[in-house]
Amino acid sequence: MTQADLPELTPLTPGTASEAGATDVYGSLDPAALRHPDSLKWTAFPEGVIPLWVADMDYPVAPPILDALHDRLTRGLGYPQLPGDPLLNAALRERLASHGLTDLPPEGVAFLPGVVPGIYASVAGLTRPGDPVLSMTPVYHPFHLAVTEQGRRVAAAPLREPEGTGARWEIDWAALETAAQGCGLLLLCHPHNPTGRVWDAAELARLRDFVLERGLYVMSDELHAELRFTSQPFEAFAADPRVRARTVTLTGPAKAYNTAGLGIGAMVGHDPELVRRVRAAAGGLMGHPSALSVTAWQAALRAGGPWLAETVAYLRGNRDVLGAFLAARLPWVRCALPQATYLAWLDLRAHPRAGDIQQFLLDEARIAVHNGPVFAPGELGARYQGFVRLNFATSRPLLIEALERMADALGETISA
Ligand SMILES: Cc1ncc(COP(=O)(O)O)c(C=O)c1O
Repeated sequence: MTQADLPELTPLTPGTASEAGATDVYGSLDPAALRHPDSLKWTAFPEGVIPLWVADMDYPVAPPILDALHDRLTRGLGYPQLPGDPLLNAALRERLASHGLTDLPPEGVAFLPGVVPGIYASVAGLTRPGDPVLSMTPVYHPFHLAVTEQGRRVAAAPLREPEGTGARWEIDWAALETAAQGCGLLLLCHPHNPTGRVWDAAELARLRDFVLERGLYVMSDELHAELRFTSQPFEAFAADPRVRARTVTLTGPAKAYNTAGLGIGAMVGHDPELVRRVRAAAGGLMGHPSALSVTAWQAALRAGGPWLAETVAYLRGNRDVLGAFLAARLPWVRCALPQATYLAWLDLRAHPRAGDIQQFLLDEARIAVHNGPVFAPGELGARYQGFVRLNFATSRPLLIEALERMADALGETISA
């Protein structure tokens, strides 16, 4: 199958950018150049394997970020302003306000060397050793590692699987209710990695009622918020004043602007005491973001908009290619296409090799994907055996080649 054989892509909704500017560059990425020793994604597996695993995009850094980094280097690499660059602070507050996080107090923003340290600090600061911590599975694995590595227990509420075409992964309210017993903290991933769900207004409203009724704190990881494929504005969990005093929101540039190697994030909250308490839980172990990461994020917020819009449009095209390919060539593979993120959560449980599907795809298709069980703690991981997470943020020709290899290895039909 070539790109020309694929069904027409869904048109972009009015008001969203076209991918045109990105297509030339992203469409002609060279695997030999991507496979440089600095890249975890491209060096973790043998040559010839197409890496569709860790959440990095294969695209070059946005030109305004590169320019700002070059410029920053001419001014030396002394400490940036602590506790936070005022220009970055102002630009971030403006962006967060567009998500509904208005009226943040002056002490409501704390810069961190990444989002994951904020997840760990939230667990450390808002729970005690031995406590159960509420989380919905499958989920980005540091959510449960932050709990178990710090002597807490995961109280897992599995999401409800999509049933039928067009269905989505949903919150299982009964499971959440049961798992919440004894918990004081909910870890929320919004948009959700790995299913790509952007929790909608009704779900967020119900979730807010849920945490208010039970007096739960909330850590809402909103790192993927800028990578949405809809033109709807993003609604942060703490957009509603009712839950602001009990929520810390984590964000950063790493996913949207593809700068994970620089390391920076922020924890924001409307209650300065809550922000202080979480930040203090990590103490001096937390460290500060680097000067270059501060510069990069500032440039991204100030001038990265057009690059981001084209990149999201290209990703959306890739998502639609993936959906069309699965429908045409692997109709037995189940996947609710993501509303955000460049990650797709594929259900391959119908395959006879579902029990070692990640290894099978590595050996037989020469593609590297993340294995389903990673996305739940301990024994609960078995529930996601046969699922894989596929990162489609690569060139469209490489994506199509990977999908062709998958179809050849897996077989287009599965006999019962
Ligand atoms: C939901 C989520 N949070 C956090 C991270 C990592 O953030 P950082 O690299 O800033 O620690 C990722 C990376 O994929 C992620 O998907």
